[in-house]
Amino acid sequence: MKTPIIKDRRIINLLNRLLGMEMSAASQFRLHARLARRRGDPGVADRLEEMAGEEDRHAAVLIDLIDASGMRPITRPGAVRWPESPFKILELNRRNEIVSVRSYERLAGKYKDHKEFAALMKRTARAERRHIRMLDRLIERPLKREPA
Ligand SMILES: [Fe+2]
Ligand SMILES: [Fe+2]
Repeated sequence: MKTPIIKDRRIINLLNRLLGMEMSAASQFRLHARLARRRGDPGVADRLEEMAGEEDRHAAVLIDLIDASGMRPITRPGAVRWPESPFKILELNRRNEIVSVRSYERLAGKYKDHKEFAALMKRTARAERRHIRMLDRLIERPLKREPA
């Protein structure tokens, strides 16, 4: 699919903000994956790495959109956090995914007349929803190991 051209500066600003979120998410998933692997949980590590790869692809879509529109991708990725327990790590990532879904859906809704752009935003929202489901499945496992 050809990358849609965005003329609205406000959309570009939002896309830059989302780009920061995607880049932080990818880094955070990779850090968490590495630590999960070191702590003997390759199942969780594999899933987190898979999601990191998908966040990279979401970032690539945003970079393409911004660049094709003749703007520069300018972003400030947030801090990568490392909560102390497996449950808190997965919960944190789950909360971030909910923010992503809302952001993409809001953009798709607000600019629904820009059909190609809205479709791209909806597709990413669906991918983030899938991440929520993946995290839900992972959360059920470490939860069983949490001390009472
Ligand atoms: Fe993403
Ligand atoms: Fe995600």
